[in-house]
Amino acid sequence: MTAPAQAPAPRGWRGISLAHKVPPPSGDYHWVYLWEWPIRTMHWLAGGSILVLAVTGLYIGKPYFVIGGDTSAHFLMGWMRAVHFGAAAVLVSTAIVRLYWLFAGNKFERWPALFPVRPRDWVNLVRQVKYYLLIQPERAPHYLGHNPLQQLSYTALYGVALLQVVTGFALYGQADPSGFFFRALGWVAPLFGGMPIVRFVHHVATWVFLSFIPIHVYLAMRADLLERGGAISSIISGGRFVPSGQRFIDE
Ligand code: HEM
Repeated sequence: MTAPAQAPAPRGWRGISLAHKVPPPSGDYHWVYLWEWPIRTMHWLAGGSILVLAVTGLYIGKPYFVIGGDTSAHFLMGWMRAVHFGAAAVLVSTAIVRLYWLFAGNKFERWPALFPVRPRDWVNLVRQVKYYLLIQPERAPHYLGHNPLQQLSYTALYGVALLQVVTGFALYGQADPSGFFFRALGWVAPLFGGMPIVRFVHHVATWVFLSFIPIHVYLAMRADLLERGGAISSIISGGRFVPSGQRFIDE
């Protein structure tokens, strides 16, 4: 008797199947340690402070609720500003530690890991984009640390954070024209074309962060589900699982 014909694998849009990309739930995997504790701690501190800065900053720019009565009794705007500046201090502290760790960290955390400068990185950048867009998903490059697209987007986000710090302290300096920040950042307003534009840039950059967060969370969950390596827990534990036979571009 002949065996019944095998059912064809389920095919998705344009014949692309996502199912075959998911590695088996058990097999020969091993755990690799990537992110040391300063990186993980700074990640969560920076993430938390950015959320607080966005919530309080948007309130400062355009209060989205008010408390009636004498404003000096509840001092709501004063508290929003105080919390904004406290969170700004946390963010700047994380940036200082991150800067130090660009020299002291492991090879996945140092300067070169921030920039896709080698020709092979650009080839892999295109492959990575094609993987996310489901065009040639089978040709995705394998990296232990950040792939070139992650390198570019995280470095760009560091750039936006720097812009926020500079414009934020320039705004802060306005309160005291004899103070340190007013004098140290006097060049910022002329550079941008005036203080209203500095404020506008600070506001728009907030929306860059607020747009980045859901994309970042989505891609982390996607990697966790499709690669089965524990991508999300890697920013808590520091490591993730990889199939033992797999070669990596950055190993
Ligand atoms: C070191 C970092 C930062 C400093 C020193 C800083 C400082 C300031 C200052 C002084 C103001 C004006 C407050 C006032 O007029 O009373 C402000 C407004 C604001 N900040 Fe920040 N900030 C920083 C980072 C951030 C970050 C990371 C975000 C968003 C994620 C943010 C979002 C905002 C927003 C939305 C406003 C209101 C802008 C508007 O007027 O529409 N800030 N910030």
